[in-house]
This record gives sequence, structure tokens and C-alpha cells, in this order.
Amino acid sequence: MVFSISKRSEVEPFHAMDVLAEATKRRAGGHPVISMAVGQPSHPAPRAALDAARTALAEGRIGYTDALGTARLKHALAWHYRDRHGLEIDPARIAVTTGSSAAFNLAFLSLFDAGDAVAIARPGYPAYRNILGALGLHVVEVPVTAETHFTLTPESLEAIQQEKGVKLKGVLLASPANPTGTVTGREGLKALAAYCDANDIAFISDEIYHGLTFAGEETTALELKGEAIVINSFSKYYCMTGWRIGWMVLPDRLVRPIERVAQSLYISPPELSQIAATAALGASEELDRVKASYAANRKLLLDRLPKIGLAPASPMDGAFYAYVDVSRFTNDSMDFARRMLAEINVAATPGLDFDPVEGPRTLRMSYAGSEAEIAEAAERIGMWLK
Ligand SMILES: Cc1ncc(COP(=O)(O)O)c(C=O)c1O
Repeated sequence: MVFSISKRSEVEPFHAMDVLAEATKRRAGGHPVISMAVGQPSHPAPRAALDAARTALAEGRIGYTDALGTARLKHALAWHYRDRHGLEIDPARIAVTTGSSAAFNLAFLSLFDAGDAVAIARPGYPAYRNILGALGLHVVEVPVTAETHFTLTPESLEAIQQEKGVKLKGVLLASPANPTGTVTGREGLKALAAYCDANDIAFISDEIYHGLTFAGEETTALELKGEAIVINSFSKYYCMTGWRIGWMVLPDRLVRPIERVAQSLYISPPELSQIAATAALGASEELDRVKASYAANRKLLLDRLPKIGLAPASPMDGAFYAYVDVSRFTNDSMDFARRMLAEINVAATPGLDFDPVEGPRTLRMSYAGSEAEIAEAAERIGMWLK
């Protein structure tokens, strides 16, 4: 018998992970590789998180928790919204997830049925397209350019629905965004949330890069009128990618549907990571020092990249990415990335991951590494391009 493989699994590979695998292989072979390919902090989890995890391990059993997370972490997250945003959030509206990646699955499964149309920005985070596609949803990519300040607007959503002849059921936006670094300000978010509210569209706000805004204002969609679904994570600002902990803040009526799906899909998020994450919420002093090092990297790249012919293709206002235009050198950024790794041991991600149309002319560099590494990478690329 020959079994078939599903059409839904025919998603694009995440090229950044392929570049990372190649970079890891070269590093193991003794090459002095600097990886700017994957969006992960080189800094470890905050000390308080590591200490809490060590204590929990020494004490013994790590088990399942409630499907939507421990009461301690949910209360600590409610405190976080009070502290950072002056908002009172009922901990019962918070769902802790296995990274924000699991939150996307849960949100899409609870909000949409197969065939529903969901809008995302192009360029944008590739997993959005792939998860939506694998779940049988209709992905509506909305090109974002300098004209729309690299973000979605009510006008662009209206136009794409006309053009494609679809009625959107959902809109997903990240601010700060990956890969463009766009920060959608309060007014922009407000307009989007109001548009979605008026048109019965679910508005999902991916706030995973909150805490990493360098220019412009950081607004959570929770401050706005309407029923936004907020997704966030400990992966970026909190430097905890491998701990796989994220969270959602949900409208009341979505909590139980999410809980039902989460119980069967994941049982619970990992307990050890929840203990560490609870402690990480109090580590902003340490984490703000890490952020300051990204700010220094950003400043260096903003200065150096245009001088070596790699002008940023978007604003770099938040997150930790430089999304650069490589069209002066190539029309094939995949080949460019491969050669850069093979010839000067610097790994970056070809734009194709983020933008199937314009991506062959762009490259994303993560500057979440150490200051010394980023300076060295800029030096090597400059010499290479000469
Ligand atoms: C915009 C965006 N959202 C979500 C994620 C997923 O992060 P995690 O599952 O580690 O929380 C990433 C990872 O790079 C991202 O860039």
C-alpha cells in the first residue's frame, strides 16, 4: 500500500532554518561563522528565570498544568499589563501557550473555518502563511510598501477585498513587524481595530516584539475599542526562544473555545518553562541592558549598511532586523545568501521567506547577536561587496 501525503503539508520550507542548518554545519567544521539568519537573542534567559528553573528542578516533579497555564503566570502577566500599560486585565482572559506559535494554531482553529479568508502583510513572518495554509484557510497577502508606511491600513484591506473578491474573516498584524521592523503607531492600530470591529473581522495583534521598539510608540491592541486577540511570547524581549512559552489575551467569549482546543492539542504548556517565565517578568533591568545592546547594533547598521550599498528596505523602528535591498548586487537573494555564507561565513536570510514576490531582491539580517559579532559581520560584508 502506498499512502498519500496531504496537500495541506505542502507549505514552503522556512529558508532561514535551512540557512541556519548550513551555518551550523560550517561552524562544526571549524569555520568562524556569524549567524544573522535566525531571529533569536544570543543572550541567555534572564538570571532570575534560570534560578527559578533550577530551584524547581531541584524540588522535583514537573507535570501538566491547567491547559491555559498556571494561575501564577497568568497573574504575573496581568501585573505586567498594569505595570507597562496601566491596563487592568482579568487573568481569566489570559491563555499561556507553547510559544506564540501554538497561540496562532489555537487562535486560527477557534476563530476560523476551512476556506475563511485571513489577511496578512507581505512581506511578513512566513509561518503565518504556512500555518494558515496548512489549516486550509485562504491566505490573503496584502503588499505593504513605503506608501502605506509598511503596514496594513483600512484602505489596503478594503482594496484587497475588492481586488480578490473576498470577504475577510480575520486580519493578522505584527507591530513591531518581522522582517520590516515597522512599528504601527496608536492611530494606525486604532484605525485597523475599528475597521475590523465595524466589519465583523477578527483582529489578531502579534505583539511578540513588544519591548523592542526603538522609534515610534508601542501600543497594545488591548488599549483599543473592539475585541482584539493579542498574542505575545517570551521568545524575543525575554530571550527565551527555547523555553517555548507564549501567551494570548482573549475576549471573554473566546476563552472557553481556545481552552477546549488547547486541552486536546497540547494538554498544557511546559510547567518548567512557565515557572521560569513567571520570574522573567520581573527581570526588566537585565533585559533593558540587552535591549540597549540591540540599539547599539541598530545604530551601527543604520550607519554602515547604506555605505556598503545595502540600503534598508524598510524602517528598522522595532524588532531586531535589518531588511535590506540587495538589488544592486543580485536578483537572487537565495544565491547571494548562500555565497555570503560560503565565502565570508556570514549567514542571513533570503527575502523569499518573507515575500514570495519581491523577496529575491531582499535579505534579512538579525542584529540580536553581540555587538562585537554584528560589527565584525558588517566589516566582512563591506569588504566582500567591494
Ligand atoms: C512575528 C513573529 N511572530 C511569532 C514568532 C514565533 O515565535 P515563538 O513561537 O518563539 O513565540 C516569530 C518568530 O520569529 C515572529 O517573528
